[in-house]
Amino acid sequence: MNIVLLGAPGAGKGTQAAKMVEVFGLPHISTGDMFRKAVADGTPMGVAAKGFMDKGELVPDDVVIGIVKERLSQPDCVAGFILDGFPRTAPQADALGAALSDMGRALDAVISIEVPREALVGRLTSRRQCRACGRIYNTMGEMPAVHGVCDDCGGEVYQRDDDTVATVTNRLDVYDKNTEPLIAYYETRGLLRPIDGDRSPHVVFADVRKALEG
Ligand code: AP5
Ligand code: MG
Ligand code: ZN
Repeated sequence: MNIVLLGAPGAGKGTQAAKMVEVFGLPHISTGDMFRKAVADGTPMGVAAKGFMDKGELVPDDVVIGIVKERLSQPDCVAGFILDGFPRTAPQADALGAALSDMGRALDAVISIEVPREALVGRLTSRRQCRACGRIYNTMGEMPAVHGVCDDCGGEVYQRDDDTVATVTNRLDVYDKNTEPLIAYYETRGLLRPIDGDRSPHVVFADVRKALEG
């Protein structure tokens, strides 16, 4: 299954992707996680990306498209993939379509997780994440048993640099302007599966499963 997860910052793309990995066994490809790793590793791409991420702006299309194409060509993507946070612009969506077509493949579904904007700021500013394995926590919900230490891997649980109120507000504006139009883009192509994301994560996931398994 070739799946795209679409949704605003904080909609729960990463949270649902983790559940999908368990059930469907597909690789989770989060461009945000890839950039955060590049930042942590201090690569030239990471240094360049950090400037955009800290302001809540998008990393330029050519950079993002390049790393996703490379990732999709890896052997673990042969049986399918879960793309999280890509595409985010019309040129990225066109590039994805073209790259898959070149490989003789196509998307099966675009899961669109819909959450009202009022709920998103609170979710993002209360998020915590494991630096090592990426597991997502929330100070209003699930937190690790030992403060600051990931239950799964012992890694450091921290607050993302872009989860401040000012940056979150810009990320949401950038989403509305650049990414929200992709809902219509995929609806036109018959791929859109809208999901009400304003419910508890396991209830949302039950609908994600239904949308994918029919
Ligand atoms: P990225 O890392 O993709 O961030 P994002 O899109 O802003 O999305 P988030 O990861 O913030 O939210 P999420 O939907 O994954 O929510 P989560 O499950 O964590 O991108 C970061 C940056 O990288 C971008 O700003 C940009 O600079 C750059 N970038 C990345 N991709 C790019 C691209 N394609 N093009 C250009 N630039 C790109 O949940 C959030 C919180 O809510 C958590 O605490 C969670 O516990 C909680 N939560 C989740 N589900 C629920 C629920 N159902 N009910 C209550 N709480 C919930
Ligand atoms: Mg995420
Ligand atoms: Zn961890």
